[in-house]
Amino acid sequence: MRQKEDLNPSYIRVGNEKFVPYISEEDILKRVADLGQQISDEYRDKLPIFIGILNGSFMFLSDLLKDVSIKCEMDFFKLSSYGDEKISSGKVKLLKELNADISDRHVIIVEDIVDSGLSMKYIEELINELNPASMKIASLLVKPNSLKYDIKIDYIGFEIPDKFVIGYGLDYAQKYRNLRSIYILEE
Ligand code: IMP
Ligand code: MG
Repeated sequence: MRQKEDLNPSYIRVGNEKFVPYISEEDILKRVADLGQQISDEYRDKLPIFIGILNGSFMFLSDLLKDVSIKCEMDFFKLSSYGDEKISSGKVKLLKELNADISDRHVIIVEDIVDSGLSMKYIEELINELNPASMKIASLLVKPNSLKYDIKIDYIGFEIPDKFVIGYGLDYAQKYRNLRSIYILEE
């Protein structure tokens, strides 16, 4: 039988680095529910389209939409910037375009984490070129001390220190996205 601890390990070892629990599944889901309700209230008379940024946002988008009580649509963008490292390459590549026509639509971008803000700046510019009626940004995590670009994040799950985190969609070299809670690198 699968043990509950298997799904909630007390730490994660990657080579000689150790990640420890930081935001529990329960706290994440509570905060995501608040955001879902806030968005539902603010978009009550509109038909928003949520645009998830793959791969990192898949869990956040999925839980968030379960807490959105109004009619809505969704689509995905796929970007890549980090390669397999913890430090951003400083380059962003578009790997998957949108399928939906978002002109005159109310767009809510859904991202896992805003670090330097480079990826978000790039996405904002791409989306603006498609002439949406409005555009807002939801990010589960933000590292305010790392921000280098001038962007406004309308819906923030948690502000976190400038440290590497994994889990709940966030990866380290493509792994650990399936963790139910968020773990932080212990220094
Ligand atoms: P930015 O372009 O520097 O803002 O980086 C944003 C992207 O880098 C996010 O969408 C994540 O995919 C990745 N990223 C940034 N910080 C972390 C982290 O602490 N853990 C995992 N991925 C991260
Ligand atoms: Mg990402």
